[in-house]
Amino acid sequence: MRLKTTYIIGVLLIIWASFIYFTFINRPLSLAESPENIDNQLNALEGGIDEQFRQNREMISKVHTFLEYKKRNKMKNESSKQTKKEHNIFVIPILVFACNRVSVSRCLDQLIRYRPNPDQFPIIVSQDCNHKETTDVINKYGSQVTLIKQPDQSDIEVLPQEKKFKGYFKIARHYGWALNQTFFNFNFDAVIIVEDDLEVAPDFFEYFTATYPLLLEDPTLWCISAWNDNGKIGLVNENKPEQLYRTDFFPGLGWMLTKKLWSELCTKWPKSYWDDWIRQPNQRKERTCIRPEISRTKTFGKIGVSK
Ligand SMILES: *[C@@H]1O[C@H](CO)[C@@H](O)[C@H](O)[C@H]1NC(C)=O
Ligand SMILES: *[C@@H]1O[C@H](CO)[C@@H](O)[C@H](O)[C@H]1NC(C)=O
Repeated sequence: MRLKTTYIIGVLLIIWASFIYFTFINRPLSLAESPENIDNQLNALEGGIDEQFRQNREMISKVHTFLEYKKRNKMKNESSKQTKKEHNIFVIPILVFACNRVSVSRCLDQLIRYRPNPDQFPIIVSQDCNHKETTDVINKYGSQVTLIKQPDQSDIEVLPQEKKFKGYFKIARHYGWALNQTFFNFNFDAVIIVEDDLEVAPDFFEYFTATYPLLLEDPTLWCISAWNDNGKIGLVNENKPEQLYRTDFFPGLGWMLTKKLWSELCTKWPKSYWDDWIRQPNQRKERTCIRPEISRTKTFGKIGVSK
């Protein structure tokens, strides 16, 4: 704004100065001269003033063009900053599911070690089971993680033949509650889910940072997974760590979903066997997950509900 004012004042000064110049300096009028001479001089003066006005108008128009150019450039700069912001500065929490395994520390140690920025990747540990030793282990991390506890510890009634699968009911209840917390209480736009027996690769965060924009932009995708179900040595191309695939089969084991997808699933979330349920056509709706050629996670748990 200051710039604009300066230019306008400058232009007015030029107009004023040229008026003075043409009316006083360029005025060798003398009464002794003949009327034709005066006439000629008046004509010359008029022509000079016209020319000066033309030049001034030209100048004003140049100033306008310059100001317009500056304004457009500034808008362009701001919009490119905006785009950068949308693509690079996002916050994605890591939701770690814990229950009664103190070895959750192994998983947390690695996440903390490899995450590039704690503000960009906050860690939420959701604990079920009220297992004190596990709670103690998690509390040792202090402000490096946020601990939330699944409050409903009531027994779940299951059919007699499903008694030995009760663990799956608890897991589904825990997932449903913790995802609701993450999206509707903490209000995040996306989350990366990790279980307490998962180890992550050094480029785990880089992997999700690079693939997150794909998940946002491509409606035929519904998850990003860090796991290749057939990712054994000998079956993978070890020279192609950057290779990604689409897969119809939900891989889980370190995966990312958006709030949009959770909003779709949360009201019909099943009471058990959520990972079988999520693979059904009613949920999947022909969408695919991205999975890497080389897994970025691996399980270390020997004891667990699904062993
Ligand atoms: C826009 O950004 C470029 C470089 O990023 C800079 O040279 C230019 O002066 C900026 N323009 C404005 C109007 O801020
Ligand atoms: C999650 O919250 C939504 C909205 O409040 C609710 O309708 C849904 O039943 C909840 N789902 C689970 C699994 O708790």
